[in-house]
Amino acid sequence: MANYLELTKEEAKSLYDGLCKEYEEYKARGLKLDMSRGKPAALQIDISNKMLDVLSSTEDCVVNGIDCRNYGVLDGIPAVKELFAPIVGTSAENLIIGGNSSLTLMYDLIAKGMTHGLKDSPVPWSQVPGRKFLCPAPGYDRHFAITETFGFELITIPMTPTGPDMDMVEELVSKDPDIKGIWCVPKYSNPDGITYSDETVKRFATLKPAAPDFAIMWDNAYVIHDLYEDKDELLNLMEEAEKCGTQDMVYTFVSTSKVTFPGSGVSVVASSKANVDYIKKLLFFQTISYDKLNQVRHLAFFKNTEGILEHMKKHADMLRPKFRMVIDKLESQLGGTGCGNWIDPKGGYFISYNAYKGCAKRIVALCKEAGIVLTGAGATFPYGKDPDDSNIRLAPSFPTTEELSQAMDIFCLCAKMATLEKLIEA
Ligand SMILES: Cc1ncc(COP(=O)(O)O)c(C=O)c1O
Repeated sequence: MANYLELTKEEAKSLYDGLCKEYEEYKARGLKLDMSRGKPAALQIDISNKMLDVLSSTEDCVVNGIDCRNYGVLDGIPAVKELFAPIVGTSAENLIIGGNSSLTLMYDLIAKGMTHGLKDSPVPWSQVPGRKFLCPAPGYDRHFAITETFGFELITIPMTPTGPDMDMVEELVSKDPDIKGIWCVPKYSNPDGITYSDETVKRFATLKPAAPDFAIMWDNAYVIHDLYEDKDELLNLMEEAEKCGTQDMVYTFVSTSKVTFPGSGVSVVASSKANVDYIKKLLFFQTISYDKLNQVRHLAFFKNTEGILEHMKKHADMLRPKFRMVIDKLESQLGGTGCGNWIDPKGGYFISYNAYKGCAKRIVALCKEAGIVLTGAGATFPYGKDPDDSNIRLAPSFPTTEELSQAMDIFCLCAKMATLEKLIEA
């Protein structure tokens, strides 16, 4: 395919005119397709339906001698901790089983930092006027939004193929005690699908922040969301940190949102024993217990950790063709054009497309006019501002493969048009 960057203006213009005709034809079809959020498709959710019937008697609801229909057991049922501990990568005593959303647990930890401080905070974060948080970008918009809403200054850390730019992270945190933490999606990152290298994880374990209450928000949302047998391996940060005595910095989060029912799953926060004890003390005033019946449902449905991993293979079988479809379309229609680049991830929920500089907003707008909803351009950066106006997060899971095929044809067409517009106006 022609490299657009080598075209003369006349060639670019004539190519553009041809593409505009194609675009008008697509527009006339009145399509309505959504590739904006990383939601599982209904067929994926169906595979958990049997969980809705697993509890029907008192006996079903008694686990570890606990009547889970009643109040109590704030930090979760022991057998459920055992179920998730191997996935989180630490011992069961370091886990708190939460409610329906890991994002709520993350919000809650930051909120506790604000009101009470974390275990080693000299003062609650609300009393630190210059509080800052590191945001590897492109990243997850909802992470950034949590710290933005609590008045943190968001500092962008560029993502590299091995994880966040650790030279920058080390340099910044070692000097500034007002930097209170960093957001991380270490496996199949949202949106790039990057898994942090062993070296990156080890550098996290040996960080020496000036803040005694620095928090690594290790959101391992995609820890078991592999698409292929040849999967990425993430070094275990909690183990590495224990070796270095830095375990109090690390807070790991997982949930079953994209395992069973999004919004009705089970979430987990894990940290050092000392941090877990501290969090439990504060939680005591917040709730008497999370939804233990949902914990029991998950336990009865999966039986053991192996059961969860087997279940994830079914998700992978449904997701893999969709990811292949997106990558094949990108390669066959945009490969060699210079319009953009992308990563072919081995898991997670997203494909990150990096458009020719200055084109992302225009691509999203063109797609919208043709009936394709994408995640807003800029959403993957702090304050919604992508300095290069380049990154677009593609979420292939929700549409059917047929819908995805159409949506990707239009996306590729819009990516070409936006690039040509830039080149023509240059
Ligand atoms: C990185 C990441 N963390 C957390 C979530 C939300 O998790 P939960 O449903 O457990 O709140 C998402 C959802 O897209 C995500 O991408």
